Amino acid sequence: MKKIAVLGTGMVGNTIGTKLIELGYTVMMGSRSANNEKAQAWVAAVGEKASAGTFEDAAKFGEIIFNCTKGEASLEAIRMAGIENFTGKTVIDIANPLDFSKGMPPSLIPELSNTNSLGEEIQKLIPDGNVVKTLNIVNCEVMVDAKRSGGDPTMFLCGNKADAKEEVKTILQQFSWSDIIDLGDITTARGTEMLLPIWLRTWFATGNGYFAFKIVR
Ligand SMILES: NC(=O)c1ccc[n+]([C@@H]2O[C@H](COP(=O)([O-])OP(=O)(O)OC[C@H]3O[C@@H](n4cnc5c(N)ncnc54)[C@H](OP(=O)(O)O)[C@@H]3O)[C@@H](O)[C@H]2O)c1
Repeated sequence: MKKIAVLGTGMVGNTIGTKLIELGYTVMMGSRSANNEKAQAWVAAVGEKASAGTFEDAAKFGEIIFNCTKGEASLEAIRMAGIENFTGKTVIDIANPLDFSKGMPPSLIPELSNTNSLGEEIQKLIPDGNVVKTLNIVNCEVMVDAKRSGGDPTMFLCGNKADAKEEVKTILQQFSWSDIIDLGDITTARGTEMLLPIWLRTWFATGNGYFAFKIVR
């Protein structure tokens, strides 16, 4: 099994990292600092297959890399991780380009939406990495257990490299996703990132974050 890096110490990094450990992967969580408290607590909770370090330590370690950092800071986090450490690797980008500066609901960052996307900017920043945008359209507990949504929902894949998307599809299946649509190249991340405003408003309207989208066809 490939070694995996999870960049991000928030609830997404924690949930993804924990699920990967349960599945038998060896995982390093990355952060801005080597001794991040949340990362240390996660390692203590999940056991010997887990470790923690800086973004750079984790990116060097991982053969597959998850980006679970704050969307507005993802490009900076990836720069901190070292552009060369992404070469030839599948990079699973879960981040959303949200601006929380004016309160809730957050808006999409204008330069990273509509005619652009965070997924595309990450791919431009790491041209030798293989970015696959996925999972950003559900809450993190649903990410790792699609059935937690209450049904058999649809997940999208966006990315330039077919091999990388196949690798991600296998992980999605391990997360119990069975209905997976490959939307095409990384520019299709414009569409999935722009689902966030609908996700947020559905959550506010129903008070339930355990849902997902289904493409009926
Ligand atoms: N919460 C969900 O269920 C959900 C669902 C779908 C998508 N997402 C997306 O998943 C991503 C992670 O969400 P989250 O709620 O787990 O965590 P978050 O609070 O959005 O992000 C935490 C991570 O971002 C890093 N970070 C923050 N500011 C930074 C900066 N200026 N420079 C470099 N790194 C910085 C933090 O580094 P340190 O470790 O050093 O603190 C930490 O690792 C977000 O992009 C979010 O939009 C979340």
